[in-house]
Amino acid sequence: MVIARKRSLQHVYLLVTVLLFLMHMKPSLHFNHGCIEREKQALLRMKDDLIDDYDILSSWGREEDKRDCCKWRGIARSNITGHVIEIDLTYEKPLRGKISHSLLELRHLTYLILGGNDFTGTQFPADNNGSLSNLRYLDLHYANFTATISSLLANLSSLQHLDLAYNYFNDLGNIEWLYGLSSLSYLDLTENPLVRPSDWLQIVNKLPHLEVLWLPSCFSGDEITLTLSPINSSSSLIALSLFGNNLVIPSIYPWLSNISRNIVDLDLSSNLLRGSTLAEIGNMIISSTAFSF
Ligand SMILES: *[C@@H]1O[C@H](CO)[C@@H](O)[C@H](O)[C@H]1NC(C)=O
Ligand SMILES: *[C@@H]1O[C@H](CO)[C@@H](O)[C@H](O)[C@H]1NC(C)=O
Ligand SMILES: *[C@@H]1O[C@H](CO)[C@@H](O)[C@H](O)[C@H]1NC(C)=O
Ligand SMILES: *[C@@H]1O[C@H](CO)[C@@H](O)[C@H](O)[C@H]1NC(C)=O
Ligand SMILES: *[C@@H]1O[C@H](CO)[C@@H](O)[C@H](O)[C@H]1NC(C)=O
Ligand SMILES: *[C@@H]1O[C@H](CO)[C@@H](O)[C@H](O)[C@H]1NC(C)=O
Repeated sequence: MVIARKRSLQHVYLLVTVLLFLMHMKPSLHFNHGCIEREKQALLRMKDDLIDDYDILSSWGREEDKRDCCKWRGIARSNITGHVIEIDLTYEKPLRGKISHSLLELRHLTYLILGGNDFTGTQFPADNNGSLSNLRYLDLHYANFTATISSLLANLSSLQHLDLAYNYFNDLGNIEWLYGLSSLSYLDLTENPLVRPSDWLQIVNKLPHLEVLWLPSCFSGDEITLTLSPINSSSSLIALSLFGNNLVIPSIYPWLSNISRNIVDLDLSSNLLRGSTLAEIGNMIISSTAFSF
């Protein structure tokens, strides 16, 4: 009897010890009371490099009441791992300044939305280590970035959505960097200078999931004739804009007639019509509901 009580008391001691141990461990097991410190410090260093004229990032800070960085504006974490997985800094008012290298420490990011800000002609952090290789969604449209970005992009094989419209990148022209983006379904390169337009249309063959291809005002030349090799008619493309490129439109017909089956949004306006008629194109693109020519 006495021995049995002693045993059960021993059990209670053991249980209490384990509980105390677990409670002690809690801060590192759980992230409910704050985000991962290393990631928080990276975000704070990012804030230091931004000019916040409109107090957009007032919830970001080193104060005690702001310690959980996952409650900061524009930040979301994974409910499973606790890592920061989303940064969305697009608001009605722009931020200025530059994007710190510390961004690359947020290796679990899947969503990064920085569009509509003014990064004043600075460079997006350069990376050769595949730091952002988990990215699925990257929106840098209208952000006043310059210089290079293709080495960072080249290995983002999970990327599905890429919007680089209206920036001043100078290394996107040749298409090679795009071939690694095998998951891509949305690509907007509006007004980025590109070369060899025929190659750019052939990507429809190489990127089997590509649904939206936006290439308005990307090519320069007085009169651009395309030479396109046969295209796989099982392409996923549903929207295409080649607005404002001085393309000689009839040279695109054979290609277009093969992929036009699924296209619902087509913009070929501000190109060179050259003896073709709207009716000809109309026949070809029967399914297109939004059609500009
Ligand atoms: C995490 O869980 C909360 C509450 O269930 C939910 O509102 C939030 O969207 C989840 N976050 C992510 C990134 O899934
Ligand atoms: C981009 O940044 C440069 C350098 O700060 C600035 O002169 C220019 O006005 C900015 N352009 C836009 C469109 O914000
Ligand atoms: C890439 O990794 C190396 C070695 O881990 C490190 O020294 C370097 O700073 C990293 N570069 C970048 C741009 O993160
Ligand atoms: C891309 O991935 C390959 C293979 O993993 C690696 O050798 C190369 O250095 C990476 N390049 C960049 C720019 O991350
Ligand atoms: C159209 O697609 C078919 C089947 O994929 C292919 O055999 C043919 O060469 C293509 N034609 C053109 C002009 O791309
Ligand atoms: C066309 O695409 C389909 C689906 O992606 C693929 O199975 C097929 O092999 C491709 N055909 C050619 C000729 O590339």
